[in-house]
Amino acid sequence: MHIHRFEKLWIGLSLFLIACFIGIVMFGFTVLDLKVPGGDPSGKTVDPMNLTETPFADPGVRKVEDGRAEYEVYMVARKFLFQPSTGGALELPADTRVTFHLTSPDVIHGLEVVGTNINSMAIPGQVATFTTIFPETGTYGLICHEYCGAAHHSMQGQIKVVPKDEFDESTLVDADA
Ligand code: CUA
Repeated sequence: MHIHRFEKLWIGLSLFLIACFIGIVMFGFTVLDLKVPGGDPSGKTVDPMNLTETPFADPGVRKVEDGRAEYEVYMVARKFLFQPSTGGALELPADTRVTFHLTSPDVIHGLEVVGTNINSMAIPGQVATFTTIFPETGTYGLICHEYCGAAHHSMQGQIKVVPKDEFDESTLVDADA
């Protein structure tokens, strides 16, 4: 079978590009140790039918000193609200490392904190973990960006970032409770 010279060239180029793509992905996951965004590096999972045995039973802000963050937030995205944050802004300190843990007990939701690069999916059974710093004080809206049902459009909340020295630790969830 005769293959035209240009045809061969394009086939060769296509194969070369595919090899490059695979090579880049392999390089990222091995040499650079990249993780899938929104995924928990420890691969944590929970039973979405039974969050009562997990910290998600008592969603809110906790104090931690694990080197990665000073505070952590356990947040549940469910039809059609964020716990905490819908119906009462979640208060966080500025200039402070905060680690979020996010899951869903029902269907897939999304979390986007408007004006920041916080953007994650909330998948039943999976815990999405990410650490962030809010450099600016102010009120940030958050929305669900995955269609999750009839009231998806109303699924929203707020994060209120206050100066670090004004952050009220009495609002913390007692981690030992
Ligand atoms: Cu939750 Cu859309």
